Amino acid sequence: MSPIKNDDLLNVAVEAGLAASNIIMEALGEPRIADHKGKTDLVTVTDHLSENTIKSIIRSSFPDHNFLAEESGQDSTGSEYIWIVDPLDGTTNFVHGYPSFAVSIGLFYKNEPLVAVVVEMPHTKLYSAVKGEGAWCEGRPISCSETFSVEKSLLITGFGYEHGDLWEQNMTLFKHFTNTTQGVRRLGAAAVDICHVASGHADGFWEYDLKPWDTAAGILIAKEAGCVISNMAGNPCSIYDNNILITNPYIHEKLLNEIKSIRTDL
Ligand code: IPD
Ligand code: CA
Ligand code: CA
Repeated sequence: MSPIKNDDLLNVAVEAGLAASNIIMEALGEPRIADHKGKTDLVTVTDHLSENTIKSIIRSSFPDHNFLAEESGQDSTGSEYIWIVDPLDGTTNFVHGYPSFAVSIGLFYKNEPLVAVVVEMPHTKLYSAVKGEGAWCEGRPISCSETFSVEKSLLITGFGYEHGDLWEQNMTLFKHFTNTTQGVRRLGAAAVDICHVASGHADGFWEYDLKPWDTAAGILIAKEAGCVISNMAGNPCSIYDNNILITNPYIHEKLLNEIKSIRTDL
């Protein structure tokens, strides 16, 4: 058991998430200039400012904790706590003013998710979760949907920045599920996508080519909301796997069977 109270950890995560989201929302009113990490992989000064703010708020309460953050990488002091941070998930959306982006903060203790906060913007909504205690949106408990069939489900996916085999594979799945479900959405902020499944607005999410900071908070929120989580082959997965399938409990196996029937790399 964590020697630090869960509430104390959650309060700091919330404080950091809200401070970062204020910075991002203020920047939305200014010109947003992007640098390129890759051909379509954008980063802005706001990503860095958000990350620095999150880290300094967490450090002021927990100076010896580790970090893995998208823009500054790994910061290890040998602690059993690691804060995994995406300071701005959905940077492309933010740059264009498309309304789906977030701050994502996941705390792991002894390699297990313990506390999670995702702040969805621009219509600010705070999602949170604590291991074994539940998941909430704006303080109210959330749970995943009860949609029983694939045909009646609404799914979400995303596409990474590398346009290789996995991207091609996902195009095939996108086409397939657009045909066999009530629709597949592609919004561009994985942390938001996962929270939408956790709160029952959609029934499932999958993506290839994700990074640990995209899913570190979302997986706990989804799990505590009753979702089933695996990798795309149906095996247990960690945030260090690059692919994930998160759904309500009723369609998980059914989606996996469809995925297996059309994937070419199994
Ligand atoms: C990206 C978003 C997007 C997903 C990409 C991620 P970023 O994160 O979550 O939805 O499809 O795979 O890299 O770069 O905006 O933090
Ligand atoms: Ca991200
Ligand atoms: Ca990011």
